[in-house]
Amino acid sequence: MAKKAVTPRMPAAPPSFRILMIASEAQPFSKTGGLADVATALPKALGRLGHDVTLITPRYRGAPDGPVAGTVAVEVAGHRFSARLLEQPIGRGARVLLLDCPDLYDRDGIYYEAGVDYPDNAIRYAFLSAAAIDYAAQQPQPFDIVHTHDWQGGLAPLYARALGPPGTPGTVLTIHNLAYQGIFAKSWVPRLGLRWDDFTIGGFEFFDRLGFLKAGLNFADAITTVSPTYADEIQRPEYGHGLDGVIRSRHDRLTGILNGIDLDEWNPAADPHLPAPFDIDHLPAKAASKRALLERFGIAVTDETLARPIVGMVSRMVDQKGLDLIAAVAGPLASLDATFTIVGTGEPRYQDMWRRLSQWRPDRISAFIGFDEPRAHLVEAGADMFLMPSRFEPCGLNQMYSLRYGTIPIVRAVGGLVDTVRPYNPKNGQGNGFLFSEYEPGVMLRTIAAALAAFPNKKIWTRLQKNGMRANFSWDRSAAEYVKIYTRLRPARTKRRAPASKRVEGR
Ligand code: ADP
Ligand code: GLC
Repeated sequence: MAKKAVTPRMPAAPPSFRILMIASEAQPFSKTGGLADVATALPKALGRLGHDVTLITPRYRGAPDGPVAGTVAVEVAGHRFSARLLEQPIGRGARVLLLDCPDLYDRDGIYYEAGVDYPDNAIRYAFLSAAAIDYAAQQPQPFDIVHTHDWQGGLAPLYARALGPPGTPGTVLTIHNLAYQGIFAKSWVPRLGLRWDDFTIGGFEFFDRLGFLKAGLNFADAITTVSPTYADEIQRPEYGHGLDGVIRSRHDRLTGILNGIDLDEWNPAADPHLPAPFDIDHLPAKAASKRALLERFGIAVTDETLARPIVGMVSRMVDQKGLDLIAAVAGPLASLDATFTIVGTGEPRYQDMWRRLSQWRPDRISAFIGFDEPRAHLVEAGADMFLMPSRFEPCGLNQMYSLRYGTIPIVRAVGGLVDTVRPYNPKNGQGNGFLFSEYEPGVMLRTIAAALAAFPNKKIWTRLQKNGMRANFSWDRSAAEYVKIYTRLRPARTKRRAPASKRVEGR
């Protein structure tokens, strides 16, 4: 029988997108939390996949200078603000443009000072989005996608309407934390160039005020959040912070995509902050980090302290992170057979709590109050366990760093913690950490005690560590999920310049 002729088919080249990202903080230029890690790691990963990404983020005090890639000028609240965009390459296909407007960003703090939000935050973050869109409008080649993050970037989908049609980019909003919503007096509406027509329940009105995040939720073409479990949770009143109804009404546009971690930055085999490298095949070398951790935190290094398990925390000290649970059982916690090494900043009452505990039991508890990257790395590496009893946790990065560093997470079963930490099952040896569900101090304490009880069995413990170290949290996987969303919004890139589509009117 004659063979059928096979016509060779070239695989279609995957579309490559031009993406404009907007984020209010980005590593290594500014950071208060995980958003900064994601804001840089995601563009880098998209760049590796062949896309072209420009991230616009404010140049806060202390960020570097750089070549001027453009200038923008936008009127916000009756004043014409202008800024230079200073370029910083962050890898193949990806660059950061630091929005240099000293009047708005060259300050002691990022969002607040002495615990009080800057009174002009509405202007500062309206300008961030408006400036990014002004930059986009000046480019000879349009962007396919505007991808913005959190409330600070919430107005971008609205401002992006100025870019077309034709040539309107698809807009994506990523929620990193629904608890922060950017809510301001309604008198800002006209001052920020917004229309009263959109001051509705289905627009950006939130209890008679203006909600930046709500604007993003209602006007972006696609919404993502940083873990599948959090995507489910925020549709319920317990986790919805008053926006669960809005999110339910937009659930067909919502996708949960688990964050990755920067595998170069957080790599125990090549971490400049550690005294010695280690990895899954050289786990005993982790002991050098434990010793260094004790030294750095001023706890005597003895056979006893080296043998005693260390519980670490690196955290914003706020209610979200379960600090009230810890406060409720601080006494019993300090009596456990464990050493606690803590790094964090946040609410004064929690900072004071850790200071008091450190003074009370200096041999067992040592807290560093401040933001300190090298210490954060050393805690991840040198501790035996990592505590994250969050009330809610959109994703959480520290538990993933912990897993990679052979440090066993003890976490509340919520949000991204559920999606990354699997309970240890002594029957089949599977799992990589300890979880508890009920938000209750005693339950947390019992879970920590269970982890401490498992610790002396080195066979079990090593197995748990290795299970965690084998997990793959690469950004490439997550970035590919974002590309699927971009592709849904812009299925045929060549049709991008087609005349006004129904999609725009339909919103
Ligand atoms: P969140 O963004 O809610 O604070 P994540 O776990 O997503 O929580 O990310 C927190 C990030 O900030 C991690 O990279 C963590 O190491 C870092 N971090 C938090 N507090 C400190 C601190 N005091 N010093 C150094 N790094 C910190
Ligand atoms: C937020 C969340 C945290 C998440 C981070 C990065 O700050 O609180 O859970 O990991 O954003 O997405």
